[in-house]
Amino acid sequence: MKKLLLVIPYLLILSSCQLPVSSVKDKNGEPTQIHDPHSFAEPASAVVKHLDLDIKVDFSSKQISGTADWTINNLKGADNIVFDTRNLLISKIMTDGQETTYTMGDEEEFLGRPLTVKIRPGTRKISITYTTSADAAALQWLTPLQTSGKVHPYLFTQSQAILARTWIPCQDSPGVRFTYNAAVTVPKELLAVMSAINPTEKNQTGIYHFKQPSPIPSYLMALAVGDIAFKAVDKRTGVYAEPTVVDKAAWEFADMGKMINAAEKLYGPYKWGRYDVLVLPPSFPFGGMENPMLTFATPTVLAGDRSLVSLIAHELAHNWSGNLVTNATWNDFWLNEGFTTYLERRIIEEVYGKEDANMQEFLGRQSLINLVNELGETNPDTRLKNDFTGRDPDEGVSDIAYEKGYSFLRVIEESVGRKKFDIFLKEYFDSHAFQSITTKQFLSYLDSNLIKGSKSVKEKINSYAWIYQPGMPANMPPTNAPAFKTIDTLIAGWKQTGDTHILSRKEFNTNEYLYFISHLPEDI
Ligand code: BES
Ligand code: ZN
Repeated sequence: MKKLLLVIPYLLILSSCQLPVSSVKDKNGEPTQIHDPHSFAEPASAVVKHLDLDIKVDFSSKQISGTADWTINNLKGADNIVFDTRNLLISKIMTDGQETTYTMGDEEEFLGRPLTVKIRPGTRKISITYTTSADAAALQWLTPLQTSGKVHPYLFTQSQAILARTWIPCQDSPGVRFTYNAAVTVPKELLAVMSAINPTEKNQTGIYHFKQPSPIPSYLMALAVGDIAFKAVDKRTGVYAEPTVVDKAAWEFADMGKMINAAEKLYGPYKWGRYDVLVLPPSFPFGGMENPMLTFATPTVLAGDRSLVSLIAHELAHNWSGNLVTNATWNDFWLNEGFTTYLERRIIEEVYGKEDANMQEFLGRQSLINLVNELGETNPDTRLKNDFTGRDPDEGVSDIAYEKGYSFLRVIEESVGRKKFDIFLKEYFDSHAFQSITTKQFLSYLDSNLIKGSKSVKEKINSYAWIYQPGMPANMPPTNAPAFKTIDTLIAGWKQTGDTHILSRKEFNTNEYLYFISHLPEDI
């Protein structure tokens, strides 16, 4: 049962029912109509196009409040539009300059509550006034002691996969894109930055204005507020971090410009303007997050020797695979992460050489093998195209998407040759720029633009096994990292003699350390 809220906030009055969703499936079990099982929105009927966000960040109540002004396109002349929300307190909704009625459905695990707003066929603007809850899943509020400066509090957001709806009422599906402008009010001693064109220093008012001119999906909405400074690395790149960290970060990421040049050479122009990295306080729960124009990164990559910069290569690569061409649903997540892992290693190869790329490929393969062994060869969760209906899509964040996805692209590369594959990928990004795509759409693009009816190429690739079947396909491409053989010898010598000095005969780099650690005897 769903509950109707009239303009009087939080007052439950009537009930309505949800529209049925097409359940027609093709021979591979894929729905014939694109349907995102992790969003209540019905974008085929009425869809958002642009957001004007005006919010205030309140550190004392740990809440964000303000107005999300959506410009919409009522494609089917519908009498309502559906948004995703989770733990949001909605206080007022206006359309066409008047307060309107809306309903909020029952709470569902992970998904939150659908917000259905009454509109007219010609409605273009919907203004939603709201407040987040103190435990909004996307918002991480840090006390001063949790920062490196220890003086000011800090806030950062993490919207992927389906958490944007906990801080902005939105159509929270990677298949829906919109541009945005934002005005964000923060305490005067702090700076705000977003996944948009950013300020480089604090101002007197504590109000900051942002613009994201390219259409992005909601999971790329991002905000950070804190004692943040900026330092340029080169003309197009720079770092944001707490003042005590910013110099170290600029030194560590000195190669960002080279990485963008390498990626552009392979996959076409970088379409987002600037590329900056925000180094967060240590509680940032990921290595990195590809927020457009401003990658969010953990400070643990500041190793002091530039040895962990493949993380930057990865997040940068998302500006083609993910941010430009996006998985239409979280069941197609491998399209984001498998492609990005492939691009990441190509960038590493260009900037640091084949040996580094090969070592990372080798380590990736090993963790894939371990994961498949752990899950079991027949476990449906080892399929590239997966079904996370009814589950949290974060369960899909595994080496299946990253490393099995990567290996599939390597198989295609090997089957047609690198030269052809590079041209194909560049055209794929270009022809699908700012679009969201399903696995099925990718496969049909692959058929018509690369396989082109060649029976032998089709058989060599065997997409069906890779995409729809569990376990490790028979045509896994070989991996080769001769540098690791030396480590095997050192470990063997140490095991035989018990003499640890054997190990200090070679200076390890980071990849070698990783290999070494993962090959220590189990009983150590
Ligand atoms: N977009 C992901 C992080 C993510 C995925 C967050 C799914 C929430 C849900 C990001 O690009 C990523 O893959 N980060 C990796 C680092 C990378 C070098 C493998 C991470 O944080 O571990
Ligand atoms: Zn990624």
